[in-house]
Amino acid sequence: MTDTLAEARLLPTPDETWWRQAAVYQIYPRSFADSNGDGVGDLSGITDRVPYLVELGIDAVWLSPFYPSALADGGYDVDDYRNVDPRLGTLADFDVMTQALHAAGIRLIVDIVPNHTSDRHEWFREALASPKGSAARERYIFRDGAGPDGAEPPADWESTFGGPAWEPVGDGQWYFHFFAKEQPDLNWNNPEVRADFRRTLRFWSDRGVDGFRIDVAHGLAKDLGRTLPTQAELDALPKDGSHPLWDRDDVHEIYAEWRAVFNEYAPARTAVAEAWVASDRRARYASADGLGQAFNFDLLEADFDAGQFRDIIAFNLGLAAESGSSTTWVFSNHDVVRHATRYGLPPRNGAAAKQGSQWLLRGGPASELDAELGLRRARAATLLELALPGSAYLYQGEELGLQEVAHIPAAERQDPAFFRNPGVDMGRDGCRVPLPWTRTGPSYGFGAGGSHLPQPAWFTGYSVEAEAGVAGSTLSLYRTALALRSRLQAAESMEWLETGRADVLAFRRPNGWTSVTNFGTEAFTLPAGEVLVSSTGLEAGSLPGAATAWLQA
Ligand code: GLC
Repeated sequence: MTDTLAEARLLPTPDETWWRQAAVYQIYPRSFADSNGDGVGDLSGITDRVPYLVELGIDAVWLSPFYPSALADGGYDVDDYRNVDPRLGTLADFDVMTQALHAAGIRLIVDIVPNHTSDRHEWFREALASPKGSAARERYIFRDGAGPDGAEPPADWESTFGGPAWEPVGDGQWYFHFFAKEQPDLNWNNPEVRADFRRTLRFWSDRGVDGFRIDVAHGLAKDLGRTLPTQAELDALPKDGSHPLWDRDDVHEIYAEWRAVFNEYAPARTAVAEAWVASDRRARYASADGLGQAFNFDLLEADFDAGQFRDIIAFNLGLAAESGSSTTWVFSNHDVVRHATRYGLPPRNGAAAKQGSQWLLRGGPASELDAELGLRRARAATLLELALPGSAYLYQGEELGLQEVAHIPAAERQDPAFFRNPGVDMGRDGCRVPLPWTRTGPSYGFGAGGSHLPQPAWFTGYSVEAEAGVAGSTLSLYRTALALRSRLQAAESMEWLETGRADVLAFRRPNGWTSVTNFGTEAFTLPAGEVLVSSTGLEAGSLPGAATAWLQA
């Protein structure tokens, strides 16, 4: 590369900052669109739907794992990081999809799952076939069992999906897994592991991928070179950077190495960390020397409440200023109950996501859910989100106002969280049901065949066909708002406006773009300005309860 090019790369260009205020649409590929009628969504299905994404008006797609996988954890158990699951297509299909997205002006972020491989990854098979102490076992976290023959686990640790976190391999040794037993954790102290992931990042960057979403970014670095504590002792340790398992300060050494890889490209590849850490530790993941951006799940965990929203927004804009990154906002993803459902449940002070899971556990009783109110609030919340400075991460189906699918027979469920936690966790299948594209048809237009998770009859009314072009539909609201958002986008700041009401939030962006949300029930008289869009109809110029409006002053 010539010096001129190298210099040019260092200059801030619009391309280098595309991610800072992007509207990113998460595609869970197995449930988006099925091009070959086998009941599973695929990459060609995404290519076919690029016109839909263009019309929706998003800036980027984040693609959940599409790699070869036995689906022990919905694809987050990766057999081969540099390939495509044959059920989803081929590398050639991936290239066609990437080109189609890019030709339409849409960037592509892919999911990287570095904390663990699947148990079918060639490295893990080699580790099982190799003796204790071998280089192959050093890529993972193997320990001798306790007791005379190593018949007891090295520690009593619980995995995230329930059940033990250590699994015996039959020769007195056990391996560690944070998640399902099919997801053995990698040993990130091993230089070979580090080198292989840098290779993976280059592999996809070379194919034109614009950025990466880093799964469990706070889990990679571990310090197990000590007597293993008990689960109770682990739980009692502070998560201040010195915890043996989570959010260790030295994890950022890995991301500094990755940043060097990202910066080999022009524009530099981006990354966003999935790190469920205390909010005051999030800025480290968003550092420009590391991943550059981090998810903020605070709004996702909040109730539909003006006070909570205001505090969270102010706090996170402060964090962004501290890290130099931009803020991220999320209400729904493939791991949580959809926000149109959460907001229709009685509030339980600041734990909206968890409250959704509790409702699922009770069998999703319709008597407890006000679906209409939930959707109305979800639309108001999303419209507020889209006016905020920073990136908005949207999850497939929320633009249709989809509710969580609560009723899925046990025999048809797929999520390990359901199977490993009987009666404690209903799992995440209810937000992963294939999208309805048409009012009718074997899988509501998802494909020519069936659907790998059962779709309920009410999907017909939420289908793209039922909503496209219909004034007042959720799809129309998203399309209008996203089009306005790209037209109105302004410098990354906002100021709160005085509303005189504790249950009404209003803020203005530097160019006069103003968003007003009424979290209460009593109508609010809007300030002067042209109303650009509202999440529900206005009542004689006033904003009704559970509604947002955008104005241009
Ligand atoms: C992340 C993913 C989740 C997955 C887990 C283990 O939290 O979002 O879906 O189960 O990591 O990879």
